[in-house]
Amino acid sequence: MSKDTIKNFISLHKKKTGLPFLAGMLLAGLTASSFAVNTDPDEFEEAIKLKPDAENGKNLYKASCITCHGPEGWGVPGSGYPQIAGQLKNVVIKQLADFRAGNRDNPIMRAFASRRSLGGPQEIADVAAYVESMPMTPHNEQGFPIHLEEGKAIYDKLCADCHGKQGEGDPEDHVPRIQGQHYSYLTRQFNWIRNGRRRNGDEKMIKQIKNFTPREQTAVLSYVASLKPKKTAPPGWRNHDFDNFDRSWRPMRIR
Ligand code: HEC
Ligand code: HEC
Repeated sequence: MSKDTIKNFISLHKKKTGLPFLAGMLLAGLTASSFAVNTDPDEFEEAIKLKPDAENGKNLYKASCITCHGPEGWGVPGSGYPQIAGQLKNVVIKQLADFRAGNRDNPIMRAFASRRSLGGPQEIADVAAYVESMPMTPHNEQGFPIHLEEGKAIYDKLCADCHGKQGEGDPEDHVPRIQGQHYSYLTRQFNWIRNGRRRNGDEKMIKQIKNFTPREQTAVLSYVASLKPKKTAPPGWRNHDFDNFDRSWRPMRIR
């Protein structure tokens, strides 16, 4: 991460206490393992049960998430930044918990999900509810259309039971909504789940995909990226909650 990028965070987050601190730590070259682990598993069980305040979630999103996931929550196609708009509330809670616990290997996300930056269970629930309420983009990054038929056969047989017929996910078991996600992000997560770099992967899923050929993987993930969510934003839609956000800004490229 370049120093300029971090300065951008600082200037965009001037009002939020804690972030200059985090940015300073990042400037100092701190890695994920140096963050004190402040995770209490019960905290997340609690967050799932709390009644969220989406209005407060909007403010938290603006303070802590917008610079990377964008004002619409659509991430950046072809980069490491996922679309999070429309993700199930319980999944967002689970993923934030896992970043906090260091079960996902992403120091930047870990810093922004930390208690110091984001807050406790109520704040997690609030921001997760706001994220779920954001409409998804109708134009996510696609994979390889020539493989769609093969991909559908694999998906229906192996993935639909957990992720749902259309990739809509399952709030009860916090199985992620994967329909309409950017293809390169799906690929990266799939690889990381498969090789254990993402330590919160589902065991049954890991076993199942262990022997996938590259072609099978390309096929099934192209199909997943092509699955359309029931509700997407209308063409040209802008999130008016954040009209003042500088839309020319792009987060730095990550691996
Ligand atoms: C500095 C950039 C940055 C900020 C700020 C940030 N994120 Fe992220 N977020 C990322 C990146 C990069 C990933 C992908 C991580 C990976 O590949 O493991 C990610 C992943 C996620 C995921 C997992 C998505 C999935 O489907 O796997 C969720 C949920 C998420 N972020 C929510 C949030 C929320 C909520 C906030 C604000 C509290 C936030 N993020 C702030 C960069 C950021
Ligand atoms: C036994 C249930 C199960 C099966 C079968 C399964 N998955 Fe998953 N999958 C999960 C769970 C649970 C997660 C979330 C793990 C976590 O907490 O991070 C996940 C995560 C993912 C992710 C990361 C999503 C994100 O937003 O970060 C992708 C991509 C994915 N699965 C694709 C697939 C595909 C494609 C198949 C079929 C080949 C499949 N999964 C089969 C349960 C399953």
